[in-house]
Amino acid sequence: MSGAARHRPLGVVTRGTTNPNRLRRVDNWIVATCADRLRAAVDPLVVDLGYGATPVTAVELRARLAAGVRRDVRLVGLEIDPARVAAAAPAADPPGLTFARGGFELAGLRPVLVRAFNVLRQYDEREVPDAWRTMTAALAPGGVLVEGTCDELGRLAGWLLIDADGPRTLTLAAKLTTLGSPAELAERLPKALIHRNVPGEPVHELISALEGAWHSAAPYATFGPRQRWLRAVTHLRDTGWPILDRPHRWRQGELTLPWPSVAPRT
Ligand SMILES: C[S@@+](CC[C@H](N)C(=O)[O-])C[C@H]1O[C@@H](n2cnc3c(N)ncnc32)[C@H](O)[C@@H]1O
Repeated sequence: MSGAARHRPLGVVTRGTTNPNRLRRVDNWIVATCADRLRAAVDPLVVDLGYGATPVTAVELRARLAAGVRRDVRLVGLEIDPARVAAAAPAADPPGLTFARGGFELAGLRPVLVRAFNVLRQYDEREVPDAWRTMTAALAPGGVLVEGTCDELGRLAGWLLIDADGPRTLTLAAKLTTLGSPAELAERLPKALIHRNVPGEPVHELISALEGAWHSAAPYATFGPRQRWLRAVTHLRDTGWPILDRPHRWRQGELTLPWPSVAPRT
């Protein structure tokens, strides 16, 4: 009996909306920041949980990891909807890319990395901690979960890096050439934070501070949105926000902070 057959998939079928290249920002960040973990793994197994109506973003993640991290990466796309598992079959390319039915329990797999994007968005906020616990309990030792949300075209995104001890970091990412204002990122916060963008909550203070920094960096717009973003992020850091990563990541339109600086107060 296969691992997938032994486990009852945990979760519910939700809307299957997806789009080619919509997850490029998080994929590029995974390649840049999770490469060591994947290279060190005896079994470089990655799960894309909840790939949606078509497996296009799973196919893309496998290609990005194979090109940028290690050629022998094995990506398994898991979906709770059996019709979507059947529809993905023609895109399989075993052993590097396969599809199976599964939910938060990860179908008995022990991956070193799980990407779950635009999945928890359709659940209730109260279901999030249990879903995180179930997924991280199934990881290989030292494994991580990248869980987040983006807009239809992947121009705005927010995600958490989570391990067995809970969330570690929050990353916000935007396509800078189409960004009107950083406040737009609030709509794409991960589920655990999206309802916390209210006065008194750290993530609200962050978005407000980023908005203020973006406005004071307006003169840098002459040099392009990248220079303006770099200036805004530098200003945030200089005013005490514990910004992580180096400017070469900020240049991509990213901003990463430790979880304790944005975790909900209640
Ligand atoms: C909006 S689509 C996201 C598709 C893709 N990840 C993306 O971001 O473009 C969400 C998918 O997650 C699936 N899903 C929801 N809960 C799940 C669970 N617990 N386990 C596996 N798949 C799940 C739904 O059936 C749906 O196809």
